[in-house]
Amino acid sequence: MVDNDNLRSTKIALNNGSSAIPALGFGTLIPDPVATRTATKAALEAGFRALDASERYRNEKEVGEAMQEVFKAGKIKRAEVFVATKVWNNNHRPERVKPALEASLKRLQLDYADLYLIHTPFAFQPGDEQDPRDANGNVIYDKGVTLLDTWRALEGLVDEGKCKAIGLSDVSLDQAKQIFEAARIKPAVVHVESHPYLPEWELLDFCRKNGIVLQAFAALGHGMQPKLIEHPVITAIAKRVNKTPAQVLLAWAIQRGTALLTTSKTPSRIKENFEVSTLPEEAVREISEGIKSRVRFNAVVETGVPGFIPRKKGG
Ligand SMILES: NC(=O)c1ccc[n+]([C@@H]2O[C@H](COP(=O)([O-])OP(=O)(O)OC[C@H]3O[C@@H](n4cnc5c(N)ncnc54)[C@H](OP(=O)(O)O)[C@@H]3O)[C@@H](O)[C@H]2O)c1
Repeated sequence: MVDNDNLRSTKIALNNGSSAIPALGFGTLIPDPVATRTATKAALEAGFRALDASERYRNEKEVGEAMQEVFKAGKIKRAEVFVATKVWNNNHRPERVKPALEASLKRLQLDYADLYLIHTPFAFQPGDEQDPRDANGNVIYDKGVTLLDTWRALEGLVDEGKCKAIGLSDVSLDQAKQIFEAARIKPAVVHVESHPYLPEWELLDFCRKNGIVLQAFAALGHGMQPKLIEHPVITAIAKRVNKTPAQVLLAWAIQRGTALLTTSKTPSRIKENFEVSTLPEEAVREISEGIKSRVRFNAVVETGVPGFIPRKKGG
């Protein structure tokens, strides 16, 4: 393994014709606001130049404060950071989309987003409640709006310069195809859970053929059981190439052609996760072909309700 190579600085061109997304991205799904601020700042200082936020994470304010702190220190400029955020399910009605992005931008202290994603393809009852439920505790969905209606509203935001690129999150291959075919402005990014237990090869192939970047979230398997960083294929490669298991997983994601998101509240891990470098091609193949179990950690694609699925150790 070459230690001073450029893998960590890989950028993937977007189909909007004007920008590129850093492959190695930092996600801000961190429940604690203080930890969000500290981790986001540490990620930027470690070298991450792509951030993923969402109105649903309820911490855009802290992400914005961390960015401002770093920008004001003068080492990094706004234009050097690729900032994505997402519209949540209660804001799918077209007339709610622009106010939702404007509110996110205000909290993030930005005047544009590099990428705006529809967080899930599920529309919930429109209103300010992010998790609307009926008397029995069931989610109240909104049948009065389609994913394409929401997409058209996002296209308008690109026209207005409020975001540079738009994309989909937590979609199936069929949903990605439908929007791609109908779109005036094609999705630039499809953001889904993906790692060696859920490689999404078919979706990746569709994205590659159509100039869309697949951004893989939970690139380390969200630290959940069965732990990817403890998988014998990963630990053996890590030992061989003198890198950590996390670094092996992140390098694999970039080398197979995806962008990725990883998250940590721990400063040493944030640094570790940025220090990725190129794996030998046979190691990339070994991971792609040698890990055959299939696990989805996050059930959000089934219902639109976020949540990683707890499993028993070894289960
Ligand atoms: N669109 C969606 O529906 C959706 C859903 C989920 C996630 N996302 C996005 O994707 C981002 C990444 O997802 P994720 O949080 O599942 O990422 P992940 O990197 O797969 O998992 C994060 C977990 O791994 C641990 N970890 C991080 N680095 C490590 C290392 N070097 N060694 C050992 N453990 C390590 C972290 O622990 P510590 O924090 O304790 O260090 C944390 O528990 C999120 O922040 C969010 O932006 C999107």
